[in-house]
This record gives sequence, structure tokens and C-alpha cells, in this order.
Amino acid sequence: MKEKQVVLTGVKPTGMPHLGNYWGAIRPAIDMANSANSSESWLFIADYHSLTALNKAEELSAMVYEVAATWLACGLDPSRTTIYRQSDIPEILELNWILSCVCPKGLMNRAHAYKAKVQENEELKREDVDFGVNMGLYNYPILMSADILLFDATHVPVGPDQVQHIEIARDLAEKFNRIYGEHLTLPKAKLMEGLEVVPGMDGRKMSKSYDNHIPLFDAPKKRRKRVMKIVTDSSPPEEPKDYKNSLLFDMYKLFASPQQVEEMKQKYQKGIGWGYVKQDLDDVLETHLAPMREKYEHFMSHKEEVDQILKQGAEKARPKASEKIKTLRKAIGLVNE
Ligand code: TRP
Repeated sequence: MKEKQVVLTGVKPTGMPHLGNYWGAIRPAIDMANSANSSESWLFIADYHSLTALNKAEELSAMVYEVAATWLACGLDPSRTTIYRQSDIPEILELNWILSCVCPKGLMNRAHAYKAKVQENEELKREDVDFGVNMGLYNYPILMSADILLFDATHVPVGPDQVQHIEIARDLAEKFNRIYGEHLTLPKAKLMEGLEVVPGMDGRKMSKSYDNHIPLFDAPKKRRKRVMKIVTDSSPPEEPKDYKNSLLFDMYKLFASPQQVEEMKQKYQKGIGWGYVKQDLDDVLETHLAPMREKYEHFMSHKEEVDQILKQGAEKARPKASEKIKTLRKAIGLVNE
């Protein structure tokens, strides 16, 4: 018999995603969620996790809508995948505490986000190597483990930077099971490679922190301005160009049809001005993004619909969470019957 798959993943609200997030995380996760073979699929907005780095109430609240609207606009189907807010499921915090008590402190010392902070402080020769580290950041992997273990997730789609956290979740589940009996399911990371690394406007990996990103749902005019600023060399229009070595071409082929890609190759070989390539790129972007942007805008101006979807998600998730917590409470001796 085929084992039942429970696919679960979390997304941190971080504002409007860009093309790199789209290809690297959103698209592959939605494809995975919509593919028929997972018997259960959960996606939640990790708003508690955002608190480790954000303390502006309005910003957090706005970002939760942006991220929910984005996933819905990109094709996440709430009737197949339950979408909910982490903070609507208080049982996660209860499990967070229980797991904290089986987690050795040393395991958190080795978690990479914390280690990176310490290293930064050392490099800056700060007296306190823990400068700027709150306990939320330090315990981040425990909360993430609670997210996963509460739902008996078997497969967790994540980017490469999150694999260590899934290993920590497995570790904590094993430790718990050794002490209290086999109650927690050991999850596996399902690495989302994305199609490829999406280059940014300057050729480095697309990232908000480099300010080389193209936001997914900017108004067409605003986006075009950024497309026009993509870095090119100064070769004249008539000079034949190498598509294998072209940032614009690399972006173009992500969004264009195979036939358009072939035609573009020929234009490169004949010689084409960079301005025209940028226009063509912007056109295929528009074709691809316009229908999704419309849905996004719809959700952003009908937040009550988003609220409703998240509420329904929480209503599905809560009973499962509370049932699991009941079992765990019993296992650890908090209730006797
Ligand atoms: N830490 C993840 C990220 O930054 C988000 C996240 C929180 C998550 N909890 C999770 C992902 C549970 C998968 C499973 O991308």
C-alpha cells in the first residue's frame, strides 16, 4: 500500500514577491500542491515567524494579505490545499513549548540563521556576539518543527536554505518519540530547485536585498521601467549576439513560448538592439503576468474574501491540530485519562 503523503509548507510574509520568488518557490510549490498524488496538502502563512525580524504591526498585517493574495492569484486551489494563518492555530505554540523541552540548546547554537548573526557580530568585532539576536530568532527552528510535526507532515517542500530546519524537525521528533513513544511523524524535506536561479537586473541572483528584482505584480508601466534598466553591454544593434551568454535572453526564455524562444535566438544571431529585446521581454512578462495580476488586484481590493478563505482554512486545520495536541498531552503526562 502506498503511504499517505501529507505535504505541508509555510511561507513567511515578506511583501510582494518578485520573479525570482515566483520561479524559485511559488510556482514549484503550487505545482506540487496541485499534483494529484498528495493525499493531503497544507500551506500556511508563517506570521509568527515574521515577528522575529519585524515589529511594525501595520506592515505585518499588510504583508499577510499580500502573500495570501499572491498564492491565490498564482493558482493555489483552496479546495485542494488548505491555506491558513499560523497564528490562527494556537496549538502550534503549545507544541513549540513541548519541543523546546526536548531540544538541546546546542542544537540551536548550530542553526544557520543564528550562526550567521554570530559570525556577523564577530566580524564587526562587537563585544556581544549575540547582539541583535532575540529568542524568537534563536528558537526559530523549534517553532518551525512545531508547524510541521503538529500536522504529521511527511513531505515539506522548501528551498535549499531551509533543509537544515527540516533536519532539526526530524531530530526533535526522534527525541520526542524516544522519550514518550512513537507519536510524531518524521518529515522529509522536498527540495524545490525551481527551474533555475533567476538572474536579477544586474546579473546577480534576483533578490530584494540587492535591489535588482522585478516585482511580480507591479503596474505594467512601473515594471517596464525596471525592465528597461536591465544591464547590457554596449555592443551596437547590428552586431550578432550570443544568446548563450545573455542576461536578457535568460529571463526571456523563462516566460516565452518555445517558438518565441527560437525566434529570439535568430534575432540574436542576426543582430538586434538591446532596447528591442527588452520590449519583447516586457511583452512576454505582461502576457504571463496580466491574468494573475488581475486576480491579485481583485483579492487586494476584496480583503474580506481573503479573510474568508483563511478562516475556512483555519476551521479545517484546528480540529486536526487539537486532536494531535490531545494525544501528545496524554503521552507526556499532562492529562491522565
Ligand atoms: N522558515 C521558512 C522560510 O523562511 C518558512 C516556514 C515556517 C516553513 N515554518 C515552516 C516552511 C514550516 C516549511 C515548513 O521560508
